[in-house]
Amino acid sequence: MLKKNIKVLTVFGTRPEAIKMAPLVSMFIRTKFIKNVVCVTAQHREMLDQVLSLFNIKADYDLDIMKQRQSLSDITSNVIIGMESVIEKENPDIVLVHGDTTTTFGAALAAFYKRKKVGHVEAGLRTFNKWFPFPEEMNRKLTCALADIHFAPTQTAKQNLLNEGVEPSKIFVTGNTVIDALKTTVKQDYVFNNEILKQIDFKKQRVVLLTAHRRENWGKPMEHICMAVREIVDKFKDIEVVYPVHYNPAVRETVYPILDKIERIHLMDPLDTEELHNLMSRCYLVLTDSGGIQEEAPSLAKPVLVLRDVTERPEAVEAGTVKVVGTDKRRIYNEVEILLTNRKEYARMSESINPYGDGRASERILKALLYHFGLIDEKPEEFSV
Ligand code: UD1
Ligand code: UDP
Repeated sequence: MLKKNIKVLTVFGTRPEAIKMAPLVSMFIRTKFIKNVVCVTAQHREMLDQVLSLFNIKADYDLDIMKQRQSLSDITSNVIIGMESVIEKENPDIVLVHGDTTTTFGAALAAFYKRKKVGHVEAGLRTFNKWFPFPEEMNRKLTCALADIHFAPTQTAKQNLLNEGVEPSKIFVTGNTVIDALKTTVKQDYVFNNEILKQIDFKKQRVVLLTAHRRENWGKPMEHICMAVREIVDKFKDIEVVYPVHYNPAVRETVYPILDKIERIHLMDPLDTEELHNLMSRCYLVLTDSGGIQEEAPSLAKPVLVLRDVTERPEAVEAGTVKVVGTDKRRIYNEVEILLTNRKEYARMSESINPYGDGRASERILKALLYHFGLIDEKPEEFSV
């Protein structure tokens, strides 16, 4: 008998996965064709809860695995063990995972062990270097090997999958759901809750948004980033730096001793996503090693300097609004200096572009799922720029 609906077990555990799965969860809630069950691993605790509360998502299962200074093996093993019983109990038609975290890979592996289909959202991103970013590049490749449906955000991501021998019929180009999320959070008349942000006059001061947390940047590279930022505020008196610092103690141990209590550098706890997105829309420039922020800033017309040696998101680099500058102190300083002093270069990099999505990625993913399971006849049209 033809199926009338499908049961989807949606799994996520960190801040970026939650932000990017939230639009999908709300899309699933609105359709009668999907019975959606949400399981959070809580690989992140506070940073996940911030997103759940913003998007009003109530998890059906919470594995609550986070511990301080958790190792990759801690996360992987706890996710697999926790997911096993949830999958047994729910018996879903498909387990949906997102991106490249250890939750993603662990949940996909647990689904495979239970002989369940795996759907991979944000599939096909590659740097082709297994150590950068670590462990994300390998998490993506391993998840790809386990997946039955691949939701590639861009044509480049699709091509990467085709090159690796993934069957074309299993790939859907959808755009990135992060742009769906961004469309709901950024508002012209937004009023900040954060006391420091409330006091900044964004018309008079040029604000640099900084985030850095990646494993491969811990230690020396992070020190270089911080020292470059100190030099920048020292030289340019109209610059304010806002750095919401990831809760990871490995990050905080480096950042606070170098940047705390320096005039015009504002260290703060991670911001609620609505605050962060509106801050991004009003800032002058973004310095980051984040994946998600690299995707968001170009659509808000903000130049991005990527504090990494490689990126798996080449589209905005090719379009010229994102530049990969690495983590050398001199290089970061020089690149920021150019954007603070050269109006032409700043204007060139601050064009609004949307290579990552048009705000309809969740709708395409929903349709692709229904098509895959034979509930509709028509394939969703591909996202293209
Ligand atoms: C994880 C992902 C990374 C993603 C990042 C997004 C892996 C291996 N890494 O890295 O791909 O870019 O999330 O932010 O999947 N902590 C808290 N509270 C929180 C969150 C974290 O205290 O809400 C602290 C804990 O001490 C935890 C540590 O941060 O042990 C590291 O968290 P973890 O998820 O292992 O690594 P991230 O660097 O956050
Ligand atoms: N973000 C947030 N608050 C912050 C910093 C980032 O809500 O203080 C959001 C950001 O807008 C983006 C996502 O978190 O949507 C990126 O997450 P992160 O940088 O932690 O991970 P990555 O994307 O690098 O995996």
